[in-house]
Amino acid sequence: MWKKRALGALAVGAVTMLVACGGGGTSSGGSSAPAKKIALLLPESKTARYESKDRPLFEAKLKALCSSCQIIYSNANQDAAQQQSQADAALTNGANVLVLDAVDGAAAATIATKAKQQNVPVVSYDRLITGTPAVTYYISFDNVAVGKLQGTSLLQALGGKSSASVVMINGAPTDNNAKLFKQGAHSVLDGKVTVAKEYDTPDWSPNQAQNEMSQALTALNNKVDGVYAANDGTGGGAIAAMKAAGVKPLPPVTGQDAELAAIQRIVSGEQYMTVYKAIKPEAEGAAELAFDLATGASVPSSTVNGSVNNGAADIKSVLLKPVAVTKSNVKDTVVQDGFWSVSDICTAQFADSCKAAGLQ
Ligand code: BGC
Repeated sequence: MWKKRALGALAVGAVTMLVACGGGGTSSGGSSAPAKKIALLLPESKTARYESKDRPLFEAKLKALCSSCQIIYSNANQDAAQQQSQADAALTNGANVLVLDAVDGAAAATIATKAKQQNVPVVSYDRLITGTPAVTYYISFDNVAVGKLQGTSLLQALGGKSSASVVMINGAPTDNNAKLFKQGAHSVLDGKVTVAKEYDTPDWSPNQAQNEMSQALTALNNKVDGVYAANDGTGGGAIAAMKAAGVKPLPPVTGQDAELAAIQRIVSGEQYMTVYKAIKPEAEGAAELAFDLATGASVPSSTVNGSVNNGAADIKSVLLKPVAVTKSNVKDTVVQDGFWSVSDICTAQFADSCKAAGLQ
């Protein structure tokens, strides 16, 4: 009996899904449900990934799952208040799900709580929304592992140099990820190097990172053995500051995101490493979650591989694995995975470095 009813419910669910999400959204007989609306709210545009990877990959996957679904897209340009109004606008517009990459993880609790009051599920995308149980799923990477990879690579580059002097350029204090990267990096570096200067970088701004590095160089008389930069944007800022101050040779610098410019700096020897986080499974996984939540389909239990406490509740999580990239494995990581092609990386300016690195 129970089985029959469950099967019946499944069948009804399947029909609803077909009606809501079928091909061209033809409305026949007035019985079609309104097209689902899914909001994707990204935090900023100074970091290349959001507009060049996250957004297009998410949109393509969602369109493939549901051609009639409507995507409401907003980018908050590092402004938490703007993100709040973008989320309000999405809810007013009838969004059925919010996929939210929070500018400010604590402030975004207000957004999630409001969504919950309207029965709109929230997927916390890449960055954790903290301090509220109103988060349906969290999809991200193991972010402490990101920091550990950065720290471990930096130690390798320093080759056991005793009391090496390191400058740490962390990410934005409002981003829960930045906290986790920093924690992971400290867990590896503390006691092994001297952290001579350390900064948190508001908004993850590369310009701000450049200023921080300039200050550090002045204070340390240009004596720096290594730079922990939390991502490629801040790493690029630190490198620019060192070049401007005439630091030669450049010390090892870390990064994250496998941005094209950073991969090129790695190939040419200006940056030591980056962390590759495959954005495709992250963005596509979020699109699948959003689709299931919008249509009321059950999320397959195999999707979730962990749970993360956000200070208010344990949030069901999908956590992906980050990978360290140095000159020696560019080919076996980002190229093999189709993140960048050899022709993307090896433009005329990098032809010689690419040959030397075995990329061409
Ligand atoms: C993301 C990084 C990104 C940084 C700056 C972090 O939350 O995980 O990939 O570089 O924000 O936008």
